[in-house]
Amino acid sequence: MAAKPVAKRLVVLVSGSGTNLQALLDAIAKTGAEAYGAEIVAVGADREGIEGLARAERAGLPTFVCRVKDHESRDEWDAALTEAVSAYEPDLVVSAGFMKIVGKEFLARFGGRFVNTHPALLPSFPGAHGVRDALAYGAKVTGCTVHFVDDGVDTGPIIAQGVVEVRDEDDESALHERIKEVERRLLVEVVGRIARNGYRIEGRKVVIL
Ligand code: GAR
Repeated sequence: MAAKPVAKRLVVLVSGSGTNLQALLDAIAKTGAEAYGAEIVAVGADREGIEGLARAERAGLPTFVCRVKDHESRDEWDAALTEAVSAYEPDLVVSAGFMKIVGKEFLARFGGRFVNTHPALLPSFPGAHGVRDALAYGAKVTGCTVHFVDDGVDTGPIIAQGVVEVRDEDDESALHERIKEVERRLLVEVVGRIARNGYRIEGRKVVIL
């Protein structure tokens, strides 16, 4: 008899509206965690009162908030975040619009299994304003990048990218909405695939098995 597939444990980190989180929740609800390959076991945030946390609560998931300003230093915040995430024993951690750079302790614990989604085609336009920066530069195509997080800002090994054309009439919000449509599908596809198949990181190259 074939072994029963086991769902990997995911902790998802958010800072905002949480539509990428919602896409993961919907995909898992649709097929079931075992068929998808992963289940979300908790959702964490760096701030209170956001729609991302409300989405998690509506899905009946445990949530936690770890705010920088509640800690003496950035390192202490990083240690607290590491502990809060570790409590759920995740196989993978997904940053889905989590607008904080994690520190050494977090990366020591979750490096190589911490996935981020970014609204630009890295290595172009890293940082907090990927959409605005691509528009201001006059780029004709942009998109989104799902990548593993390393100790730089949006510099880790790329898992997958999606392309979106920039239109003459685009402002930041219109362009970001079109990027997010592609991004949500890409994130759902990539997280499911790495959870089900496993992967290797060879230098900058990610090989999905
Ligand atoms: C996403 O577009 C994500 O790529 C971006 O925030 C948005 C979150 O949307 N992240 C960054 O800009 C990180 N530098 P959501 O809260 O609706 O999922």
